[in-house]
Amino acid sequence: MPKLKKTKQPKLVVRDKGKKNMFWPSPEMKKRAWISDKGIYDAAADNPLAFWENRAREGISWFKEWNKVYEAKPPYFKWFVGATLNASYNCLDRHVEAGNGNDVALIWEPEPVDEEPRVFTYSMLLEQVSKFANVLKSLGVRKGDRVGIYLPMLPEVHIAMLACARIGAMHSVVFSAFSPESLKKRLIDAEAKVLIISDGYYRRGKKITLKERVDPILGETKVRNVVVVKRFKEAIELQQGRDLWWQDLIVNASPDCAPEQMDSESTLFILYTSGTTGKPKGILHDTGGYLTQAYWTSKLNFDLHPGELIWCTADIGWITGHTYTCYGPYSLGVKTLIYEGAPDFPKEDRFWEIVEKYRVTVFYTAPTAIRMFAKIGAKHLKKHDLSSIRILGTVGEPIDEAAWMWYFENVGNSNCPVIDTWWQTETGGTLINALPGIGPFIPTVAGKSFPGTKHILLDEEGKEVHGDSGGYLVQLPPFAPGMLRGVYKNPAKYLEEYWGHYGKEIYYTSDGARYENGFFRITGRVDDVMKVAGHRLSTAEVENAIENHAFVSECAVVPMEDSIKGHVPVAFVVLKKSEPSEHLEHELVQEVVKAIGPTAKPKEILFVDDLPKTRSGKIMRRLLRKMLAKKEVGDTTTLQNPESVEHLQKAVRDFLHSDH
Ligand code: WTA
Repeated sequence: MPKLKKTKQPKLVVRDKGKKNMFWPSPEMKKRAWISDKGIYDAAADNPLAFWENRAREGISWFKEWNKVYEAKPPYFKWFVGATLNASYNCLDRHVEAGNGNDVALIWEPEPVDEEPRVFTYSMLLEQVSKFANVLKSLGVRKGDRVGIYLPMLPEVHIAMLACARIGAMHSVVFSAFSPESLKKRLIDAEAKVLIISDGYYRRGKKITLKERVDPILGETKVRNVVVVKRFKEAIELQQGRDLWWQDLIVNASPDCAPEQMDSESTLFILYTSGTTGKPKGILHDTGGYLTQAYWTSKLNFDLHPGELIWCTADIGWITGHTYTCYGPYSLGVKTLIYEGAPDFPKEDRFWEIVEKYRVTVFYTAPTAIRMFAKIGAKHLKKHDLSSIRILGTVGEPIDEAAWMWYFENVGNSNCPVIDTWWQTETGGTLINALPGIGPFIPTVAGKSFPGTKHILLDEEGKEVHGDSGGYLVQLPPFAPGMLRGVYKNPAKYLEEYWGHYGKEIYYTSDGARYENGFFRITGRVDDVMKVAGHRLSTAEVENAIENHAFVSECAVVPMEDSIKGHVPVAFVVLKKSEPSEHLEHELVQEVVKAIGPTAKPKEILFVDDLPKTRSGKIMRRLLRKMLAKKEVGDTTTLQNPESVEHLQKAVRDFLHSDH
C-alpha cells in the first residue's frame, strides 16, 4: 500500500474556558455531527416510547410493523410487539438493494505481515452469509436452534453469526482464548447442535491450534457437527461424519437463502457472561430492540457517516465485539475492521500502522490497551499518520485521567472527542456516554444516559442519591430496547441478579457511580465480578477452579489494582495437609488456565492458614481486597476468626513488598 500523505485534520474539540480538562465539540464537529442539539435529551425523556418508535422506524427495515411499541410485565418487557424483521437482512440485503453492494463492508487484517488482508463488499458478504446459512440448514439447523461459535478474529466469525441470524438460529459465541472446558460448559447449557471453529489462528507469530484441543470435550456435548474453518496449511484429523471443512461446504452451497421473518422479540443470540457464581449466565438478546439500539448507538456515539471505517478492537467473544464490530456497523452500512493478532506484533506500532493503512475513522478500545500503549511510549505513534481518526472511544472499565489524557493527546492529537461508553453484556449497546456533537468530554466521566433511557443512583435503602457521595447505578423503565430479555433456562437467576435489589421495576447494574459536574462517573463493580484487562471474570469461577485441586481446602479470589490491566486476580489459598511450594503454585495456576483460560490466571497465589469469615461462615473477601489496596481493614471483632487477620496482613505485606 502506498504511503499516504498527512491530511489536515479539522479541529473537532475545544477546551473549556474555565476547566482545564474539560472539552467541548468545536463548531466543525457540531456541524458534521448527526446530533448537536442537546434538546434531544429532553425531547426523548418527554416521550421515550415515541423516541424509540421513531428511531426503530427510521433506522431499521421491518417486514411487519409492531402493533404495540412497548409492553411490560415486570421484570419482563417487550419492544415492538408483533413486528417482524431479520437482522442479517438489515445488515446486508438492504444495502445491496439500495445499490450499495460494492461498498466495502469488512476489512480483515491477518497477523502475519506477509499475508494479504481480506476485504468484503456488502454483496460479497451477503453471498457468503447466504451460502453459509444454507450450509447450516443442510446440517439440520432450524429456527430457534443454538449454534456454538468458537472462532478467533477471522471474517468467518461474522459470516457465521449473520448466517445464524438469517435462518433464525441463535448463535452463542465463546471467546476463543477461553479454555475448551469453559467452551464445554457453554455448549452443554445451550444444547448447541453445531459448533463452528477453526483449526487455529496466529498470535504473536505463533500458530495457536484450536480444533485438536476441542476434540476431547465434544463427547460430553450435544454437538453433532463441527464446521472447521481452515486457517493453516497443515493437515489435521477430522472425525468422519462429524467434522467438516468450512471451505468445502461453502463451494457447493447455493447463494440464495431468503431471510427468515423473525418476531422482534425472538432471540438473536445468547452470550455467556460471568456473574457472582461459578456458573456463567446465558444472556439473551432479542432481535428488534437489540438491533435498534446497536444501530443508533453506533451512529450517534461514534458519529459514523457513509463510507467511514470503525475499528473496534474488542474480540468477538465479548459483547463489544458483537455490537460494534458486527451488528452496529453493518446495520449502518459502514466499514468495519477486524484484526487477527496481538496489538504489538511484530512491532509495537502495529495498531497505528493499521490505522494509517486503512484510514480508520473511529477507533474504539479499552483502557487496558491505552495504558499499555502509554507505557510503551508515544514514539511508536509518531511514525504514523493518524489524522483519519475523528472519534476515539473507550469501554470496559473505568478509565483514569492519565490514560484518558494520553489517549486524547497522542492518539487523537488533542483534537478528537473521547467517548467513554458505559454499558454491559446485559445492556446490549452503550447506555451512558457523551455524544460527539454535544459533549462535554471529561476524563473519567462517562456522561449522560443515552437519549430515551434513564439511570439514577440509589443508596442501600433505595433512596435516590443526588450530590457527589455516590450510589448504586440503576436503570428505570421504559428499559432500553437492547436490554437483555432473560437468562437462558434460568429465570430465577434473571430475577435475582437484576431485579432482586430494588424490585422488579428497577434494573440493578451491579456498578457503583457518582455525579461529577452533573454527569455519571462510573466507579466500578460492587459485586464479585472482576474486570481484568477489560475481560469480565467471576471470582467464584476462579475459586472453583483452584478448589478443584486435591490439596486445596478452600480459597478466596479477589481483584487487586494493576497499573496496566486495571485489576488482576489474587488467590488466597488454604491447603489441606500439604506444604506450599512453587510446584503447587504452578499447578493451581494451571487449574485456572484449564478451567477458564489464560485470561483468568491469578497474579499471585498466597498460601495462608485461614480466611477471614463472618459468624455465619461467609468469607469476607472485602477485607482481603482492602488489605491488597493497603487500606485500613476496620473493625474485625465481629469476625468468626479475628485472629486470622494479623497473619493475613503479614502475608499480604510480604507479597506487596516483593511485588514492587
Ligand atoms: C464495566 C462491557 C467504567 C462495568 C461492555 C460494567 C465500565 C462491566 C465501562 C460490564 C466504562 C463497562 N466505565 N466501567 N465506560 N464500560 N464498564 O459485560 O463495571 O464485559 O458493569 O460489558 O464493565 O462488562 P461487560
